[in-house]
Amino acid sequence: MTSQVVLITGALAGIGRATAFAFARDHASLVVSGRNKDTGQALAAELRDLGTQAEFIQADVRHEDEVRALVDQTVTRFGRLDVAVNNAGTEGRIGPLVEQTIENYTATFDTNVLGVLLSLKHQLRIMLPQGHGNIVNVSSVAGSVGFPGAAVYVASKHAVEGLTRSAALEAAKSGVRVNAIAPGPIVTAMLDRFTGGSEAGKSFMTSLVPAGRLGNVEEVAQAILFLASDKAPFITGQSLAIDGGTLAG
Ligand SMILES: NC(=O)c1ccc[n+]([C@@H]2O[C@H](COP(=O)([O-])OP(=O)(O)OC[C@H]3O[C@@H](n4cnc5c(N)ncnc54)[C@H](O)[C@@H]3O)[C@@H](O)[C@H]2O)c1
Repeated sequence: MTSQVVLITGALAGIGRATAFAFARDHASLVVSGRNKDTGQALAAELRDLGTQAEFIQADVRHEDEVRALVDQTVTRFGRLDVAVNNAGTEGRIGPLVEQTIENYTATFDTNVLGVLLSLKHQLRIMLPQGHGNIVNVSSVAGSVGFPGAAVYVASKHAVEGLTRSAALEAAKSGVRVNAIAPGPIVTAMLDRFTGGSEAGKSFMTSLVPAGRLGNVEEVAQAILFLASDKAPFITGQSLAIDGGTLAG
């Protein structure tokens, strides 16, 4: 990844943060993006301490003007955009379908679906004329199967799978690849919120994983790095599960 220009949304915590460090250790130049300026600037400083170039650009992926500015400022700063990781996501309000609200639907879809759509739109605006680029969308195993109590999140991640395939087909002849990763349960703050943070909740999630354990953020970051690298030149439009066998069952 030496001298590759990499943009990561939702980079300030969890999978996004671990992915930023994985790219930095591989000598990429990074733009880390998120909503909190202080956390973002501290993260960029930590990444620069590793000897790589890193900038924080504030952006909420729900707002097109912010996504457009994020991409444009990345190109202004580094001259091009080689890799984009569309990681920003929310689990929304977990609960039975009959209790779901329009507010939760809108909040979840605005980040998980509109956010990925806007990110793809503005990243491809740069990458297609460049004639090269790699995009990795962070989907979920919930993009392929149902999950009781998470209908809205599940529907939003199914949409991410559809956006990934359609974008990959539109870009296929241009030298731009678009893939997704589909994590199973990974130890992050999101998983804690999803399970209520209880041991019983974690045990239940673990029981869904054939490998018998939860995943960690480094395992997800390495899969993203692989898909974005020149080790995967003929892979596009795919969703790679990082799930200890969950989707195989
Ligand atoms: N942790 C898991 O078990 C798991 C499993 C499958 C998929 N995922 C997906 O992985 C991605 C990262 O999740 P995580 O577990 O690291 O969660 P996390 O909550 O630790 O991190 C998500 C990050 O995205 C940011 N974010 C949320 N909404 C945003 C918005 N509108 N604009 C910009 N940033 C925003 C958050 O502030 C946070 O920094 C998400 O897309 C999530 O759906 C997570």
